[in-house]
Amino acid sequence: MNAQETLFELNEKFNRPSLTFGFWQDSELPTAYIANKFCKGAVTLFGAHILSYVPEGKEDVLWLSQKSIFAAPKGIRGGIPLCWPWFGPDPAPTHGVARIQFWQLKDAVVLPDGSDSLTFELSVNDPHPLKVNMTVNFGAKLTVSMTTVNTGSTAYKLGDAIHTYFNIGEITQTTIRGLGGAFTENRVNNTDFTAQDAFGFEAETDNIYHSEAAVTIDDPVKKRKILVEKENSRTTVVWNPWIAKSQRMADFGDEEYHTMVCVEAANCSVDRIDLAPGASHTLTQKISVIA
Ligand code: BG6
Repeated sequence: MNAQETLFELNEKFNRPSLTFGFWQDSELPTAYIANKFCKGAVTLFGAHILSYVPEGKEDVLWLSQKSIFAAPKGIRGGIPLCWPWFGPDPAPTHGVARIQFWQLKDAVVLPDGSDSLTFELSVNDPHPLKVNMTVNFGAKLTVSMTTVNTGSTAYKLGDAIHTYFNIGEITQTTIRGLGGAFTENRVNNTDFTAQDAFGFEAETDNIYHSEAAVTIDDPVKKRKILVEKENSRTTVVWNPWIAKSQRMADFGDEEYHTMVCVEAANCSVDRIDLAPGASHTLTQKISVIA
């Protein structure tokens, strides 16, 4: 089926007042557009990648690079990439295969409260037989849940992350709260430290916090606070590439590091999940603007 036929089929099957389908911008990525009383949003079948979440009367909570490429098999820069079934650069491709494959839209429903939920599915055999569902609920919160099932006959050590890029006013004025006391791996200089409860940014930041706590992103420039809650996640990754790394990335503008920060609900490093044959694991992140 070509991209145009996929779009036609999606519209035939799922179209309703709060859900329509089209190509993302001028790409060929089939994308679901949601508009209900809570928010507007967009999620493409490529990577089951969430591209936009605009709560009613507010600015987009998600950040998307002006330099992002929207063409498979290149991953999208911004929004919410799903890292699965491993996290990080080893093995290639970095952050696993899920974000660079087309998923299937299995279900799209309106919940009694008027929010919209969409469920996407992907199965892989390499490096291990696994199935994953991602359900996203566009409501007063953006709720993203990723359920992995080990469909193989041996155990698998799962790494996963909901790698959210947040749209902020200015990184040097942004404060992250909630991670105090967490044992932390600094991946820029390979040192460990104990996290402060509130911290800002003054250099490249690539930290793995071993913490199950919720985090608040305090953004005085956009005059808002974003609450990032999570379930079944033992790790929070906080990332900003700063100046030199921004310049090295072809799909990231040199100055764009000012207006983004990644706060990722993850299970990675020593926190990967032991998944027995037949077992499943659900990772959830919930995002809301609280002030
Ligand atoms: C973060 C990692 O999760 O993702 C960083 O901690 C990495 O090390 C970043 O640079 C972006 O990764 P990628 O593969 O999307 O460029």
